[in-house]
Amino acid sequence: MRALRFRAYGGPEVLEWAQAPDPHAGPGQVRIAVRAASVNPIDWKAFAGALSGGKPMVGTGYLGYDAAGVVDEVGEGVAGFSVGDDVLGRGRNTQAEYAVLDSWAKKPSSVDWAVAAAAGVAGETAERGLRLLGVQSGDTLFVDGGAGGVGAVAVQMAVARGARVIASSSEANHDYLREIGATPVLYGDGVADRVRAAAGGQVAAVFDVAGRTPVEDLISLVPEPSQVVSIANFAAGEAGARVTGGGADSQPMRALTEVAELLAQNLLVIKVQTFPFDRAAEAYRISQAGHVRGKLVLVP
Ligand SMILES: NC(=O)c1ccc[n+]([C@@H]2O[C@H](COP(=O)([O-])OP(=O)(O)OC[C@H]3O[C@@H](n4cnc5c(N)ncnc54)[C@H](OP(=O)(O)O)[C@@H]3O)[C@@H](O)[C@H]2O)c1
Repeated sequence: MRALRFRAYGGPEVLEWAQAPDPHAGPGQVRIAVRAASVNPIDWKAFAGALSGGKPMVGTGYLGYDAAGVVDEVGEGVAGFSVGDDVLGRGRNTQAEYAVLDSWAKKPSSVDWAVAAAAGVAGETAERGLRLLGVQSGDTLFVDGGAGGVGAVAVQMAVARGARVIASSSEANHDYLREIGATPVLYGDGVADRVRAAAGGQVAAVFDVAGRTPVEDLISLVPEPSQVVSIANFAAGEAGARVTGGGADSQPMRALTEVAELLAQNLLVIKVQTFPFDRAAEAYRISQAGHVRGKLVLVP
């Protein structure tokens, strides 16, 4: 099969759509014929070498943490899914013709493949953040970075739960934030004051998906520091905020099922821009520039 790979750290020019070993479903996994796989910032952090701990590149690197496709192998112990099912989910090395998923949900037939692929990482991360924050109907939530992959899903998931959502973006994305149900505020200096003005005081919870605002400013918005959860500022914990990178606090099957239901009901709409796999470098240049609206998705 072919996969997106890199054999040296660098910019998007190191990416090649080339031969790779076939993966196979292990226990508790499924393999899919990939119809679409999304771009997440962790992918370019990987090929840039930012996750290597300063060590030189060894072997070949592959990319992709989510995808949608058709099940063609079912691992031992998997119940309720069979060859031929259309699914969306999360895995490793998904930017390839075939990929193994560790967690997944049935893809609603009304949902486009690219949208389904975009829902894996963003959907699980959004569900995790809102669950850790205990966001409920009637709460006011501030999403710092509401127009990107994780942010736009978190906004809509919170709105679907009956929360009132204030979200930050550049001016260019304010109409988009209104479209998905949030009250927009401009990010950058003074953002906490703008959130207080929009909320009429403090908010119940802050979901920091961008990691750009000083954590003290975010903490000033909530009754206690632990009501700030960040997925992108790993120093935020020192100030009493909570930081999550997935793992033990992740409930991926449950999250993906919720995301698939929201997509089917049109309560979640993910704006996608698609690129063929052999033009992945173009998508990665856009992702690295840091102003994605919705998600970038690669398709065969
Ligand atoms: N810890 C985890 O489990 C986890 C999981 C998924 C992602 N992440 C991380 O979370 C981050 C976001 O991921 P993503 O997929 O949502 O990225 P993305 O799709 O590239 O979104 C980037 C967003 O950040 C916004 N932004 C840029 N500067 C900002 C600022 N100063 N303040 C607030 N927002 C700003 C942009 O808004 P404009 O376009 O309007 O400028 C854009 O919408 C990445 O660092 C990623 O690696 C962590």
